[in-house]
Amino acid sequence: MGLFSKEIQSFDDLLLHGLQDIYYAEQQITKALPKMIDKATNRDLATALKNHLEETNNQIGRLDQVFKKLGQSPKGTTCPAIDGLIKEADEVASEIADKEVLDAALVASAQAVEHYEIARYGTLIAWAETLGHDDIVRFLTTNLNEEQAADTKLNTVALRKGVNRKAAS
Ligand SMILES: [Fe+2]
Ligand SMILES: [Fe+2]
Repeated sequence: MGLFSKEIQSFDDLLLHGLQDIYYAEQQITKALPKMIDKATNRDLATALKNHLEETNNQIGRLDQVFKKLGQSPKGTTCPAIDGLIKEADEVASEIADKEVLDAALVASAQAVEHYEIARYGTLIAWAETLGHDDIVRFLTTNLNEEQAADTKLNTVALRKGVNRKAAS
């Protein structure tokens, strides 16, 4: 790239940047989830987070495939949005002494991350479809489906498995 040229010149470049962004985000999430699992008291919450950690590792594997299909080597680019969500999760958790209130906070932080991922994967799928990269759409769709299922599971943990009720008692 020349001195005054911008790095993202085409829609394909924008797609690649988006993929690098989510690749970085998924990696940061694999580092953040073990800390959240350690802090969780509710068993259903800990299990949901553990399962999603495993899924997240598989998602990174799928993104590796996506880069390969595009003839690119897998690479992350710093994503300030996910760094901010994780930082906020840490900060809030460090302010809470009550274990049951902490569980409710952990659900909220985890859902903020899921919603971020759902937004990003939705966009990446739409862009890949428009650009005719049908071969990467299925990998991205599998990841999106896992994020949506994780979000639904967290709703269940908060509302039906008693996390919110216990936080209120
Ligand atoms: Fe993910
Ligand atoms: Fe996720």
